[in-house]
Amino acid sequence: MAVAVPMAEATRRFTSEPRKLLIGGEWRAALSGKTFETYDPATGAVLATVAEGDAQDIDLAVAAARRALDGPWGRLNPSERGRIVHRIGDLIMEHADELAELESLDNGKPKAVAAAADIPLAADLFWYMAGWATKLNGGTINPSVPYMPGAEFHAYTLREPVGVVGQIIPWNFPLLMAAWKLGPALTTGCTVVLKPAEQTPLSALRLAELMLEAGVPDGVVNVVPGYGETAGAALAAHPDVDKVAFTGSTEVGKLIAQTATGNLKRVSLELGGKSPNIVFSDADVDAAIAGAAQGIFFNQGEVCSAGSRLYVQEDQFDRVVEGISTAASNIKVGHGLDPSTEMGPLVSQEQFDRVTRYLSIGEQEGNRATAGGSAIEGDGWFVQPTVLVDATADHTIVREEVFGPVIAAMPFSDVDDLARQANDSAYGLAAGVWTRDISKAHLLAKKIKAGTVHINSYHVFSAELPFGGYKQSGWGREMGEEVLNNYMETKSVIVGL
Ligand code: NAI
Ligand code: MG
Repeated sequence: MAVAVPMAEATRRFTSEPRKLLIGGEWRAALSGKTFETYDPATGAVLATVAEGDAQDIDLAVAAARRALDGPWGRLNPSERGRIVHRIGDLIMEHADELAELESLDNGKPKAVAAAADIPLAADLFWYMAGWATKLNGGTINPSVPYMPGAEFHAYTLREPVGVVGQIIPWNFPLLMAAWKLGPALTTGCTVVLKPAEQTPLSALRLAELMLEAGVPDGVVNVVPGYGETAGAALAAHPDVDKVAFTGSTEVGKLIAQTATGNLKRVSLELGGKSPNIVFSDADVDAAIAGAAQGIFFNQGEVCSAGSRLYVQEDQFDRVVEGISTAASNIKVGHGLDPSTEMGPLVSQEQFDRVTRYLSIGEQEGNRATAGGSAIEGDGWFVQPTVLVDATADHTIVREEVFGPVIAAMPFSDVDDLARQANDSAYGLAAGVWTRDISKAHLLAKKIKAGTVHINSYHVFSAELPFGGYKQSGWGREMGEEVLNNYMETKSVIVGL
């Protein structure tokens, strides 16, 4: 799959120079002098060289973040802080085309998708969060103290930044995940050490340049690319980090939670999923087919909330499977910079190996592909959009997160048992329900154990809506007002009168 259009001048400039770490407002090489490479997943060719941070660089970055917290950042008033956060959103949109191209080249996703979704969502997150900077108030409280009869108090709460935050993010929405993390941290007055995924560090590094341009003071945001087992683990373990925020695999999420017990730093986790998408016979079936296809194939299926378990009421099963299989077969897979591309390659050789391994396990366990079912021959890490049937609740493809364009479709007859089936998972991130019966939809929404339930829609993300998981899909929520609690401590102040 050859590159259809050449990269723009800005992208060429950014990728042709070795990229450095940002620590204390300075761009520097890793102390070890090491570098690593990122690849264009559509060709497997080297895209850029990046400084490889490890534990020593994390130490420097944490120290810089601590100094910045105690320094000018902490002294800015909320309005000033909010305006800086807002300006980050403005600068993202001023550089939208460049960021979309960088994201496409580093991750593989179509540039058009990045331009329509990732980039504006990232900007909007900063704009939304900026407004909260001036509204983070505590309250006045009237205490009743049984053992101090007649005593009077004036009491109030203060909401303070939690402090120095370590943020570890994945490769599926590199810029957007950076925004989800940085937006609330900056708004609440925290300082940050961000470790982007080793597969896709480029857009976070470009964002860091834009943040300095927006007026974020030196040391407030430090960016240290590197590997998870070295830089990531050092950040999660660091005794001078007050909070760690992580998005990625459930497996690593558990490691982070364990590591964080060292200094009992605060932890928020946004982890994997195996989300059910449920189609009732009384749904607008064509809309459900389109929604189910988008629910799994968007972003190559590399979405934590992908609707990867499709439950269809028996009498519509064949029609829905045929519809989604046709949709899968019609998806134009190719290089992300080709404007006609609808789906790109998977992010890495490792992810390609994982997804193709799941396809062979599915085959062994008796799952049948009605569309796709294998890798695409040639350069790059391409996999066919795949629909599998003849799957049951105990099959690997129904239980484990594939994180690729693979959906398992299953018929259901017993409506009373449906919530149990939907909840039969270690995960609880998202769900979809397609029906014209509003009571049925809302009743099912109450029964589903997931952080997001879509009704007659799927993959609706917005800065206003809290997002996160029940069960092993994580701890805490991203976005909305709710995420702010992850980044603040509440202090009660009591005055005896
Ligand atoms: P991962 O969880 O290993 O990587 C995510 C981030 O964690 C990266 O920045 C990585 O460098 C870092 N990391 C890895 N090991 C670490 C450690 N010991 N300590 C601290 N940080 C560490 O995910 P990976 O290996 O890239 O993908 C494996 C699977 O994880 C995927 O197939 C998918 O199922 C799931 N995943 C889920 C994501 C989500 O959005 N919930 C995002 C990415 C992956
Ligand atoms: Mg990993």
